[in-house]
Amino acid sequence: MSGLLQNDRFPRSSKYERDWIFELQMGPNSLWLMEWLCGDMKLEPGMRVLDMGCGMAMSSIFLAREYGVQVWANDLWIQPTDNWERIEERGVGDRVFPIHAEANALPYADGFFDAIVSVDAYHYFGLDESYLDRFARYVRPGGQIGIAVPGRTVEIGDDEAPEHLRDWLKGQVGAFEMWQSAAFWRSHFGKCEIVTVELADTLEGGWREWVSFGEMTLAAGQVRPEGFEELARKEVDSIREDAGRTMGFVRAIVRRKLSSS
Ligand SMILES: C[S@@+](CC[C@H](N)C(=O)[O-])C[C@H]1O[C@@H](n2cnc3c(N)ncnc32)[C@H](O)[C@@H]1O
Repeated sequence: MSGLLQNDRFPRSSKYERDWIFELQMGPNSLWLMEWLCGDMKLEPGMRVLDMGCGMAMSSIFLAREYGVQVWANDLWIQPTDNWERIEERGVGDRVFPIHAEANALPYADGFFDAIVSVDAYHYFGLDESYLDRFARYVRPGGQIGIAVPGRTVEIGDDEAPEHLRDWLKGQVGAFEMWQSAAFWRSHFGKCEIVTVELADTLEGGWREWVSFGEMTLAAGQVRPEGFEELARKEVDSIREDAGRTMGFVRAIVRRKLSSS
């Protein structure tokens, strides 16, 4: 159907309008990443879910509509009143709650959430080794935490970005250091004693999705933030040239141990 942003890999995301996605995107398509992540998480209707770093709440609305869960749409840069308007507009005001809170000062009770998800955000606040020790307490014992982020597809050091990515990365200071591999996240999360790591992997051919979404936003004149078209063009060209040798999308899912207190 025209008007929808369709991709056979992501049937749930394909039900949403292209213009709505372009308007609310803040990076690679968060619906695709959320659908990929949730494919290996157990979300059941009525569950309390934290969408951490939800941006403009697009993924939070998606979670409520697609999985019937209640969502706490937590973000820092985006104002909750703006997200509330978007949430009400999509008819999910009874189960998506916009919250403005910094990752190190979250206002939630220990064990409150049945699950926590985070798309294209965890690397901004969760690279400190002790962060998951604190963050995992917000999910109930036995509950899952899943993240999906841009990341490296190979084990190379922070200062080993290949030549073909360097010009683009010059305009993205500190980004490559944050974009870690699935093996990194497995080891990073493995250090937290109150969780077990269930999965850490790379989206097969994810670079193609990165390029295709980037090309679409460029063609539609919908690059975010506005005024960053040149950088967005460099990004798409660099990721295309890289062809998955270095960059893609990674995810990791952990479960809080039943015995953790
Ligand atoms: C690249 S945006 C992604 C937003 C959304 N998940 C998406 O994919 O469209 C990263 C988000 O992480 C959030 N974030 C970054 N640092 C944060 C922090 N210290 N505490 C809470 N949220 C944070 C920002 O508010 C921002 O909306």
